Amino acid sequence: MKQDYYTFHDMDDEEIEIRLLLEAIRLKYGYDFSGYSKVHIKRRILRRLSLSDYKSVLDMLPQVLRDRAFFESLLTEFSINVTEMFRDPSFYKAFRRDVVPVLKTYPFIRIWHAGCSTGEEVYSMAILLKEEGLYDRAQIYATDFNETVLQKAKEGIYPIHTVKDYTHNYQLAGGEASFADYYLADYDSVILDQSLRKRIIFADHNLVTDGVFGEMNVVICRNVLIYFGKELQNRVIGLFYDSLCHGGFLCLGSKESLKFTSRAEHFQSFAENEKIFRKRFGV
Ligand SMILES: C[S@@+](CC[C@H](N)C(=O)[O-])C[C@H]1O[C@@H](n2cnc3c(N)ncnc32)[C@H](O)[C@@H]1O
Repeated sequence: MKQDYYTFHDMDDEEIEIRLLLEAIRLKYGYDFSGYSKVHIKRRILRRLSLSDYKSVLDMLPQVLRDRAFFESLLTEFSINVTEMFRDPSFYKAFRRDVVPVLKTYPFIRIWHAGCSTGEEVYSMAILLKEEGLYDRAQIYATDFNETVLQKAKEGIYPIHTVKDYTHNYQLAGGEASFADYYLADYDSVILDQSLRKRIIFADHNLVTDGVFGEMNVVICRNVLIYFGKELQNRVIGLFYDSLCHGGFLCLGSKESLKFTSRAEHFQSFAENEKIFRKRFGV
């Protein structure tokens, strides 16, 4: 049976070259992409190749080894940083309606956004918690393995042309105020209100190589697992399971699921359509 990650032997030359490139990256920089979806990695490398003067994947290898900036650009190529505020508004609406009442019964809330990209998702949650009177008892950890996007997340400054869509998303997500209350417009950018950052800690964390991240009430990891092969998805779901307290919530992206993972039975579906799951008590 053919597997969807790079561990098998029936490869064509191009696949062998891709594997060598990934191995060079792992040995030199410690980032392991071998468990990512084979289709995803191949597509991204070939896209990069088509935009360059290199003739083959193997031609890229010396520069990957000698030039950190080149490696970082490949990292960004692999990591797909697309995100937006209140992405999938119905998810936030369900979170507000179904999860918030449970969180309100806790004296303190710990939330982990894994794969937070440039931070829009995290600030969306900060706004929601603020409106629900929960922000001051929350601690939010926002992590990603890409330093460049983390830096942007910390700044919380976004292009002004995004505001129209974000305002619309906010309203669809059940936003209760005026979205304009949360930012200052500055020429072609918007600067998010600094108070939204108060309870957020941004940190470097690699889901492939780093470990459990504390006793969380909520883990949000949306639109990250789709880029992983089945085995890695399974391992990362295990990491989230170990990071959640009993009764903790796990939120995945719309195209992601717990199906076929070894922890599936240890979660109950909480808001099925929005991919919100709850870790069962006593397991
Ligand atoms: C498509 S974005 C999703 C952003 C946000 N969660 C959302 O749904 O809008 C995927 C993010 O996952 C991050 N990522 C990919 N592999 C990762 C890993 N092994 N560890 C941590 N973050 C990773 C990427 O850097 C990227 O920022």
